Amino acid sequence: MPENTSAIDIEKLTSLCKRRGFVFQSSEIYGGLASTWDYGPLGVELKRNVKDSWWKTMVWERDDMVGLDAAILMHPDTWRASGHLENFTDPLVECSDCNKRFREDHIDSVTCPDCGGKLSDPRLFHLMFKTHMGPVEEEAAIVYFRPETAQGIFVNFNNVVTSTRKKLPFGIAQIGKSFRNEITTGNFIFRTREFEMMEIEYFVMPGEDEKVHQKWMQDCMDWYTNIGVKPENLRLRKHEDEELSHYAKATYDIEYNFPWGWGEIQGIANRTDFDLKAHMTMSGEKLTYFDEVSGQHVIPYVIEPSLGVDRAVMTLLVDAYTEEETTTASGKTETRVLLKLDPSVAPVKVAVLPLSRNERLAPLAKSVYDDIRKNRLIEGNVQFDDAQSIGRRYRRQDEIGTPLCVTVDFDSLDDGCVTIRERDSMDQKRVSITNLAQEISSLLIGD
Ligand code: GAP
Repeated sequence: MPENTSAIDIEKLTSLCKRRGFVFQSSEIYGGLASTWDYGPLGVELKRNVKDSWWKTMVWERDDMVGLDAAILMHPDTWRASGHLENFTDPLVECSDCNKRFREDHIDSVTCPDCGGKLSDPRLFHLMFKTHMGPVEEEAAIVYFRPETAQGIFVNFNNVVTSTRKKLPFGIAQIGKSFRNEITTGNFIFRTREFEMMEIEYFVMPGEDEKVHQKWMQDCMDWYTNIGVKPENLRLRKHEDEELSHYAKATYDIEYNFPWGWGEIQGIANRTDFDLKAHMTMSGEKLTYFDEVSGQHVIPYVIEPSLGVDRAVMTLLVDAYTEEETTTASGKTETRVLLKLDPSVAPVKVAVLPLSRNERLAPLAKSVYDDIRKNRLIEGNVQFDDAQSIGRRYRRQDEIGTPLCVTVDFDSLDDGCVTIRERDSMDQKRVSITNLAQEISSLLIGD
């Protein structure tokens, strides 16, 4: 195997993402809008695969989970009850020389990390974005962009229990956008002001919560390794008491070893009965569960695995980015850049590459492409590329993480076979077009 020669450099990754169409700066033609990003053609495929994999694992493959898609804008009392209006703040300090603002708990120094200037005393900065509902811009019409999807689940607790007849323990999963007016953003798509979350509120009998919390930690860790994240780059970290959110009894973060150090990619919190109780008090509605065994109404406890889709995408990109020295056919040494993405999340599963644009090859290559694209054994995006030399096309597919390339050459016209080239090993094997879909499917699934 070629040697991995590089430590990952975020600037190189950002540049690859832009060049190849994964992630673009938002509103770029107007100079960009700080810390907001747009997903390009390959980025949406990657992101969609991440969400699909999570939904399949966390909802479809379990019999104790259902889904929900609540509105982003919610009744303002939601945020009064949840404690966000009062507590969803970060400590902000400002440099008296360069006026730059920092989150006090994100910096080590007592002076400005940028210019050494004097920092102000910390003040609490509220993180929720506000807007007005309807045509009047007055206090009474204020609504908030949700800072987490969780509250949409809590306020629908009765609706889900009544409509699904789910028995404890069970969970509700949701994927959707959230917004936080973060003081400091950065590290590409790691911390942004608009991001997508995948959250589960898992309801259990009080007393069962700690055991179930442990189980969710394992299930979440397994999901990351199943989508290809290297286990040695993952760890669990328990929150210190002073770090705990106002609603949590205990929280563990799954952290990834990013180039700038360990960073949170997911929180798994024990929210107790805090939220259901708070919404009961604010709304006057009973949000309890009738336990047939004890004949009692109980307020369930909640375990909450919660992660950002963008952070999962960032984790996958960093984990997959690889540079290695290879020797070309002419004996030259060159650096091959590749994304070693697991096939389940790779934005393009297969690329069909005719050896050249020769008109004799084109019809066969197009028909191979059509067959793969429409074959039910192969799920996901398939590309056709006939521009430039075959070597360059392999490099392009390596850079975007395509696990398999299928090359159609002049022999294919006579022997009805094509070559499958595997991204990581660069091994090639000749297979009959008749068995191609089956071969590809086994290679992608790893049979
Ligand atoms: N409902 C629980 C909750 O909101 P959190 O730890 O504040 O908990 C959960 O957020 C996850 O959401 C984080 O682990 C991270 O993956 C993601 N996340 C939070 N803030 C983010 C931001 N500004 N940009 C990108 N992702 C973010």
